[in-house]
Amino acid sequence: MSRINLIQRPRRNRRSASIRALVRETTLSPADLILPLFLIDGIGRKEAISSMPDFYRLSADLLTETAREASDLGIPAVALFPALPEELKDKKASEASNPKGLLQETVRELKKELPALTVITDVAMDPYSSDGHDGIYENGEIHNDPTLEVLAAMAVSQAEAGADIVAPSDMMDGRVGHIRQALDDNGFTEVGILAYSAKYASAFYGPFRDALDSSPKEGDKKTYQMDPANAVEAVREALLDVEEGADIVMVKPALPYLDVIADVRANVHVPVAAYSVSGEYAMAKAAAQNGWLDENSVMQEILLSIKRAGADMILTYFAISMAKALNVAR
Ligand code: PBG
Repeated sequence: MSRINLIQRPRRNRRSASIRALVRETTLSPADLILPLFLIDGIGRKEAISSMPDFYRLSADLLTETAREASDLGIPAVALFPALPEELKDKKASEASNPKGLLQETVRELKKELPALTVITDVAMDPYSSDGHDGIYENGEIHNDPTLEVLAAMAVSQAEAGADIVAPSDMMDGRVGHIRQALDDNGFTEVGILAYSAKYASAFYGPFRDALDSSPKEGDKKTYQMDPANAVEAVREALLDVEEGADIVMVKPALPYLDVIADVRANVHVPVAAYSVSGEYAMAKAAAQNGWLDENSVMQEILLSIKRAGADMILTYFAISMAKALNVAR
């Protein structure tokens, strides 16, 4: 066999599984993952979501069991999203700061059963809003500043229930600073803020809105969520949130925005989270169900690529499957 004189042979570093393990630049661990959970009222209830195969809306008891499974697999945190019946929704999302609300009671139960697990709660009006928007909506407009009051009250109520980290996902201007102030004024200086800093007006949220029945009744979210065409603006949003007191900033969705994750990572000095959203999960699941892609491999590659882009932690509906795959590989 003829050999040419090649000094550089990058393939030498790929020769065996053990060399590949030595030179691997990015690794995933269950500790990188956050499991989102959809919460419903009742006991023993587990409802399928047609656009999210193998993912369920759970009542507090079953949600706690699932959170325990996640925790046992090494997943450090869960993020809760309540699905409320229409009759509890109003224009001001009043139910959001009900101390006896579904979310608050569930946080209490979770923290009692699993005190070491980090509980993250979503701060946004949409699951509680009769308009299905993340802000106060009137005559086709979202009113920024009055919304801040609602968000601050919601965050304080979640902290009172025991949330470790509150996560504003509304994209109103100034909400991180406003929430920080309200938390501090109420003695919750240790409760963290994970800011959805660069949250895009994305069609990839479709299955989530099915799951929570939280679609806007009128209009869309383009006056507050970001234009998918913009990346510089994402860095601006992240820097503002850090200035206002965010402990962690987030980019959402993840897979179609890997460049944004990398840009934000390079420009802030706080941890960066990425939310691999419902539509990303649905795409992988649908292709796998058709036999077109191998689900397990594609899941691992997607999550690895998000970490490689610069995310320090990933919210993913695959968290339990991924943690199981990692535990098997060990
Ligand atoms: C709303 C919220 C959304 C998601 C998380 N929080 C949807 C939206 O903005 O309409 C989407 C998550 C997903 O698609 O997995 N505050």
